[in-house]
Amino acid sequence: MVIAFVNSKGGVGKSTLAGSLVAWLVSHGHRVALADCDSQESSSEWIRTSVPKAHVFRFPTADEILDELPELKREFPFVIADGPGAQIETSRALLMWADIAIIPCKASMFEARALAKNTSFVRQAQAIRGGLPMAIAVLSMVGRGYRLTRDMVEAAAALNLELAKTAVTLRQAYADAPGQNRSVFDSGYSAREAAKELSVLFEELFPEAIPGHRTDEYWKS
Ligand SMILES: Nc1ncnc2c1ncn2[C@@H]1O[C@H](COP(=O)(O)OP(=O)(O)O)[C@@H](O)[C@H]1O
Ligand SMILES: [Mg+2]
Repeated sequence: MVIAFVNSKGGVGKSTLAGSLVAWLVSHGHRVALADCDSQESSSEWIRTSVPKAHVFRFPTADEILDELPELKREFPFVIADGPGAQIETSRALLMWADIAIIPCKASMFEARALAKNTSFVRQAQAIRGGLPMAIAVLSMVGRGYRLTRDMVEAAAALNLELAKTAVTLRQAYADAPGQNRSVFDSGYSAREAAKELSVLFEELFPEAIPGHRTDEYWKS
């Protein structure tokens, strides 16, 4: 499946979460491709050195995405696509093939108000594709002691967006990991809280990626 991290706002945590998801899936033994669809190439640069077992590709234009992503989707059980900021055409192309769109967003009043505008291409794709991709918002860079604000809950609900229960907090470990050619999952003690919260988030979003997970048992319990 293709899991795309999108939000036309930059600096919301798309590359950080996309690269971390690649590292997490690889650590669980999966064959994973990273499709870096941002011309800034931050996630591909990072993951190529930090997660050698991941297969890294760069598709900086809409044409390359439409031409190459279908083949990647056939070849890999997990394709993680890191979307661009401002280049909406690239994001549109990505959502023609994505099964799941994850929308990282910061949790402020301003962000809540801008969410509709920054994710309009998600709803446009869903209208064309009969509801696909499934879209989930993830709050990123939330402060300590943070409580889910009503603004964000209402903004997500108004857009028919699911909101992940687990939020990603603001931590230096996330900003430090790429510079150390690591993911937070292999950055040791200083990144343990970050690694823990991302594991909880990714297990919430992709329970089927955990080895030994059985859908039937999951539903019985
Ligand atoms: N949870 C976090 N806590 C602290 N810094 C973060 C967090 N997530 C991302 N960052 C930092 O914020 C900046 C923007 O994140 P990035 O993932 O590049 O966003 P995007 O891909 O949406 O532009 C980067 O410098 C990154 O290291
Ligand atoms: Mg990015």
